[in-house]
Amino acid sequence: MNLVLDCDPGLDDAVAILVAAHHADLVGITTVAGNVGINRTTRNALVVAQLAGLDVPVHRGAGKPLAGEPVDGSRIHGESGLGNAVLPDLERSEASDDAVAYLCDTARSVDDLHLLAIGPLTNVALALRRDPHLRRHLAGLTIMGGSASAGNITSVAEFNIWADPEAAAIVFEKAAPLTMVGLDVTNKVVFGAAETARMRAAGTPAAALAADVTDFLRDRFRQYVAQSVVPLHDATAVVAATHPHLFERSRHPVAVEVRGEHTRGMTVADLRPPALIEAIGPPGVAASDIVWGTDVDAVRELIVKAVLAS
Ligand code: RIB
Ligand code: CA
Repeated sequence: MNLVLDCDPGLDDAVAILVAAHHADLVGITTVAGNVGINRTTRNALVVAQLAGLDVPVHRGAGKPLAGEPVDGSRIHGESGLGNAVLPDLERSEASDDAVAYLCDTARSVDDLHLLAIGPLTNVALALRRDPHLRRHLAGLTIMGGSASAGNITSVAEFNIWADPEAAAIVFEKAAPLTMVGLDVTNKVVFGAAETARMRAAGTPAAALAADVTDFLRDRFRQYVAQSVVPLHDATAVVAATHPHLFERSRHPVAVEVRGEHTRGMTVADLRPPALIEAIGPPGVAASDIVWGTDVDAVRELIVKAVLAS
């Protein structure tokens, strides 16, 4: 599978880059502001590729959402976006500062291309504005984002959607069907001390970084939710794209709330029976595949093994 990864590194994004490079043909990386600002997400993507020795271009993308001001995930991801990891001097530079052009051009020029977005959907929405036929040129579109149950950044919203709800609304409407790898499934695949010890034992700089960012996330989780295992949301989304047979999914209309005082950024999944929706509406809400569950042990092992090989 040819894969382009749109990301906002980001602790779990960093691990996702390693997993994508191992389990797919990682054609390119595009960056977006999200967990931290665009300068840092772009730098972080470059440094992860450098540490892992990946020959993959990194294209800088949007520095702010379609509406409103950039959000900030540094309370979880640290000021750098990669926790307290000690990073090397950067020896690489970005391939361009136009991720949107890269996404549109690559979708048309690379066969069997799968786009995986694991940050706010700003770049994908801008690419759809530039090329309304974008979805047709993609073999698949998977996002880490949304939730058909509880939220994380608010009681009902998941961070990537909440960070740019206008962009997410465009993507769910204009690029359906997509595969929504939301908190419903990503919260089930968790990593603890045993996994980070295995990563460290690999003895490579990339595996050490993966262990560092996972342990940093574990420390943050201990502060906020008193648990010592953490989901690596984005890494699980990579495996959902590369190993779809491991995941249970079903197709439903999904709309994104952009106005609600308490619900802005919520993915509103209509789980009613299709015949009832047909009978009483509302009509015309685009449907996507919501991922609900997976073989947790198999997915965790695919992620750890990719890190050990990086
Ligand atoms: O809600 C999880 C998502 O938000 C992940 O992409 C993680 O990187 C954070 O940005
Ligand atoms: Ca992310």
